[in-house]
Amino acid sequence: MTQLQFRRNRRLRNSAALRSMVRETILQKEDFIYPLFIIEGENVKNEISSMPGIYQLSLDRLMEEVEEVVSLGIPSVILFGIPAEKDATGTGAYNDEGIVQRATRLIKEKHPELVVIADTCLCEYTDHGHCGVVHGSDVLNDPSLELLAKTAVSQAKAGADIIAPSNMMDGFVVAIRQALDEAGYENVPIMSYAVKYASAYYGPFRDAAESAPQFGDRKTYQMDPANRMEALREAESDVMEGADFLIVKPALSYLDIMRDVKNNVLLPVVAYNVSGEYSMVKAAAQNGWIDEKEIVLETLTSMKRAGADLIMTYHAKDAARWLEGK
Ligand code: PBG
Ligand code: ZN
Repeated sequence: MTQLQFRRNRRLRNSAALRSMVRETILQKEDFIYPLFIIEGENVKNEISSMPGIYQLSLDRLMEEVEEVVSLGIPSVILFGIPAEKDATGTGAYNDEGIVQRATRLIKEKHPELVVIADTCLCEYTDHGHCGVVHGSDVLNDPSLELLAKTAVSQAKAGADIIAPSNMMDGFVVAIRQALDEAGYENVPIMSYAVKYASAYYGPFRDAAESAPQFGDRKTYQMDPANRMEALREAESDVMEGADFLIVKPALSYLDIMRDVKNNVLLPVVAYNVSGEYSMVKAAAQNGWIDEKEIVLETLTSMKRAGADLIMTYHAKDAARWLEGK
């Protein structure tokens, strides 16, 4: 009988020590950015029913959450605001006394080392729930840029370390860059939601941020999930416009896009492990159908393997604990 020829790939998996020596992707708590939802009012800690473990917090309840994030060694948070009142042009977004501006000042005062990222969009502040200025059934591009730029400057003035525009208007990066520079914030980086698909995975977030569009959908500004080349065009535009980080969103169904973007740009790439991805895992875990810890760590590792340098995730606190062996 002839000798079978094959490679013994299992040799490198023979012990935990060996496996850890050849591991190619290492997940660490320093990779995480934790989203926070801040709402007007007093003593509010509302759990989002579709996102177990995630809360809308009033300013007086915010710090307990922030302390926990800091004590777990998570380096950064991203802030979303729910204002008391909404109007046609999202005034609350660029008010220096707006909810995110006050939250930013509060956090930076107590924890100057925590990196505060401000999500820059209008949908949480507009009564129609769209991410820009609306005329009839259209979401107008250029008039929205001016309001976004004002929002970014107001957030930087409040002490935000990074501006993260998420509204998918064309030219938002250069408009914000120019406004920040003119206001003296040339050292504040822009983390652009460069590649953002029109996704059903944002459903639970819209409960949390109370930001569902009141008519139509976001398909004229967010991307078609079927498209891949378009992601590279979006990424390229934001690089040219001066972005410092690029976000790919959602993450799990778009890992191919993450890799494409990583291979084509020289900027740090951020995965946004969005609300619907979190809710699905939580629901299955609560039913006892999956091992939550193993599923979450595997999922987050896959995002890094696909090219993400950082991950925005609602699992951040749990994952940080699990990585510490707690
Ligand atoms: C707002 C915004 C959305 C998310 C982040 N910023 C929702 C949307 O575009 O409707 C989604 C985040 C998530 O689902 O976790 N522009
Ligand atoms: Zn928006």
